[in-house]
Amino acid sequence: MDIGVFTPIGNNGWLISENAPQYLPTFELNKQIVQKAEHYGFDFALSMIKLRGFGGKTEFWEHNMESFTLMAGLAAVTSKIQLFATVATLTIPPAITARMAATIDSISNGRFGVNLVTGWQKPEYEQMGLWPGDEFFGTRYQYLGEYAQVLRDLWSTGRSDFKGEHFTMQDCRVSPRPQADMKLICAGQSEAGMAFSAQYADYNFCFGKGVNTPTAFAPTAQALLEANKKTGRHVTSCVLFMIIAADTDEAARARWEHIKAGADQEAIAWLGEKGSADKGASSNLRQMADPTSAVNINMGTLVGSWASVARMLDEVASVPGTQGVMLTFDDFVQGIEDFGRKIQPLMSSRQHVMPTLEAV
Ligand SMILES: Cc1cc2nc3c(=O)[nH]c(=O)nc-3n(C[C@H](O)[C@H](O)[C@H](O)COP(=O)(O)O)c2cc1C
Repeated sequence: MDIGVFTPIGNNGWLISENAPQYLPTFELNKQIVQKAEHYGFDFALSMIKLRGFGGKTEFWEHNMESFTLMAGLAAVTSKIQLFATVATLTIPPAITARMAATIDSISNGRFGVNLVTGWQKPEYEQMGLWPGDEFFGTRYQYLGEYAQVLRDLWSTGRSDFKGEHFTMQDCRVSPRPQADMKLICAGQSEAGMAFSAQYADYNFCFGKGVNTPTAFAPTAQALLEANKKTGRHVTSCVLFMIIAADTDEAARARWEHIKAGADQEAIAWLGEKGSADKGASSNLRQMADPTSAVNINMGTLVGSWASVARMLDEVASVPGTQGVMLTFDDFVQGIEDFGRKIQPLMSSRQHVMPTLEAV
């Protein structure tokens, strides 16, 4: 099973709590995290794009860097790990995205790929006059399909003459083309999102669900396998989990309860309101925005001792259609160190990387 890190490009990572570490995103922090991840054999790092935060006492995600420029910097200071940046497709034309990606492909020597998002939080786009109107909620994956087609054309042939409803290319060119097969990822969970991924993406990301229920995402992975049947492609799932681990189950549980006790209710209320603006939203989006338990945006959470977390991650690996997991931590630097030294060596699904690691 592949392991990735969802690197903290926004303040406080993924914890909306006054009792979690409070920090601003910096290049230095992300460099330390991704270099450490590379050292422990992680397969990939992904950064999101978020253009407007949720406010509250913790100013949650009010401070966010830009994804492509961050990954370009990280590409220059790493050598093995695969890197993915996210493009907010309402804000950047596909021909520019294609060229930025080709540039980072050159910096990274073929280790780069792109996460495509349609956007779900209207204020991110409305603030800069780029929200197309609420009808976009219903057409966003048709828009993304055209966007992806232009990218694929430009990367594979260096040219696009694509004519669609949203994009019109006239002998559009991109050169140099990427040296490696450029991987596209998406995190579509709605029917339209899954259909998009089955047609255009290489991997589809999904949310793990619940606390210590490592296989609860299985129906989502299955839905992608069903969508694949219509396109004849083999697109696999990568699942997002937060890890809260310690020497004992009790110590990990106590840390998790402490984090939850400090939940920033004002920021969580914003998430609940904006996340439910799309009335036809996927259950995934509703899960993310459910204010009753949103201290970590309701991402699946694995809480326990090193051995308990290793066992739960092996259970994730057993779900059909699973390519990998992408991890977040309360403290990323310590979390990756602990993962590399204490969790990964206990995972049967990671034994293949152990001989390749330098002495740790
Ligand atoms: C791992 C992961 C990363 C995501 N990254 C972003 C992001 O950077 N920006 C964003 O606006 N949405 C992001 N999303 C939201 C998805 O793009 C998507 O809109 C969401 O999963 C709901 O699926 P749907 O669009 O099919 O309804 C992410 C979701 C996941 C699971």
